[in-house]
Formats: sequence, C-alpha cells, structure tokens
Amino acid sequence: MDTLFIGKNRIELQSVDSTNNHAKKLLVNERPVEGTIILAHEQHSGRGQMGNVWKAEPGKNLTLSVILYPDFLDADKQFFLNMALSLAVKDFCESVLAAEIEIKWPNDIYHHDNKLGGILIENTISGTRISSSVVGIGINVNQKTFDPSIPNPVSLFQISNLEYKMETLVDLLCTFIEKYYLQLRQLHFNFLDKGYTVALYRYQQTHEFKKGKQLFRGEINGVAKDGKLIIHSNGKELRFAFKEVDFVI
Ligand code: BTN
Repeated sequence: MDTLFIGKNRIELQSVDSTNNHAKKLLVNERPVEGTIILAHEQHSGRGQMGNVWKAEPGKNLTLSVILYPDFLDADKQFFLNMALSLAVKDFCESVLAAEIEIKWPNDIYHHDNKLGGILIENTISGTRISSSVVGIGINVNQKTFDPSIPNPVSLFQISNLEYKMETLVDLLCTFIEKYYLQLRQLHFNFLDKGYTVALYRYQQTHEFKKGKQLFRGEINGVAKDGKLIIHSNGKELRFAFKEVDFVI
C-alpha cells in the first residue's frame, strides 16, 4: 500500500446495511484513525444522494466509506471537500480505464452519458468547522447487467470488457484519495477548483436542463464557492443549489 494514511486501517465487512451508516456509528463511540476505510462486499440498504437507494450486486462493485477529519476546513468551504473527492474518483477511474471520465455536478462520476459511480459525503459540523466527514464511494466494477430501475448505469467491465480485482482497485483508489485530500489540507483551493471545473460533464456546452417541470437550454460556466451550479441561459447567469436543477440526458 502506497499511502501515508488513507486505507491503512481497513474494516472489511461481508454484509452491512450501508458502509456510511457503519462509519457514522463508529464515530459516535470512538475516533477511528483518519483515513480508516470501511469496505463491504454487500450492502443491503446502500444509500445514494437525495435519499435514493444505491443498488450494487454483491461482490462485484466497490462500496466503501472513508473517515476523514477535515477540521482545517471552514464549513462554508465544504464544497472543496466534494471537489477533492470527486477528482480523486475521476482520476482513479481514468487511470484504470485509460478513458476520459467526467464529473456530473455535484459528484456523479460519468463515462459519456452513463453513471459509473457516485459519492455520498456526510459531514459533521462543530461551530464553524467540519469536525468529521464520512465519504461514501460507490463504483460499478464487474457488474454486467443492472436493474432497469437504475438510470443510465455503466460499469468498468462494460466499458473495457475486463474484469478487475477488487483489492488492487481499493489500493489504487486510496492513493488518489490521499493525493487530493493532501491538496485540500494544504488549502490549494484554486488547484481543486480549476481541476473540478474543467472536469465537469457538459462544461461549456449548451444542453437542456429541467427546473421543476420547466425545461430550458443553457451552458454550464462553473461552480460558485458555495457549490451552486452556474448556468448561462438566455443572456442571464442562473445559480442552482443541489436538487434545484436536473440535467436532461
Ligand atoms: C449517489 O450517486 O447517489 C451516491 C452513491 C454513494 C454510494 C456509496 S456505496 C458506499 C457508501 N455507502 C452508502 O450507503 N452509500 C455510499
């Protein structure tokens, strides 16, 4: 293992409700060493963004959570943690596939128009700082078919036609997480912002979006410091918080 602290301590579970839930329970009673990862072969109540479920065939996918203590980060800068982790997962997927991967705002991992993975970050704020963070990462790896209820999924296998060894992938993912987390720790906000912005799915392209039932066309021009998506539409700059706008894919 080629990291200083990410993934040095590993908790491997055969089956769990959700690795994020497990990590949060650990944090109630103890303070696991920073970089502890909780890995599960099977999650029976995996959680996604917006209260969605995260379905992953047992033993075929990466489902893990990382425990971090980014107490150097003001709560109003928490989107930079999202940028760092999104870039880590994107770079990891690119290095495995040797193909371009993009970040669909705020943190879906996309190959063309298909979702390869997702991130669920759950922060605990104390005063003005982030005292702990549970970063849940789900990446579709060797799964060959998906439940039809899942919108536009794809796996590493479906892209490359190769099967992957989960352990090797976990080691590699940890190195990318550490690389970007150290950038965050050094407060290299511009570096993260630039990398994240240019990696955005549909960046500076005109596409259709949906706000409630209303469709409109616009172009993504970046992300504000508070994490809001900036879309230029009809000569106006619009800003959207998470859940306020949907991509039409
Ligand atoms: C999303 O795209 O909606 C986020 C998906 C995050 C899924 C991962 S799998 C490991 C961790 N445990 C969970 O219950 N969810 C995250």
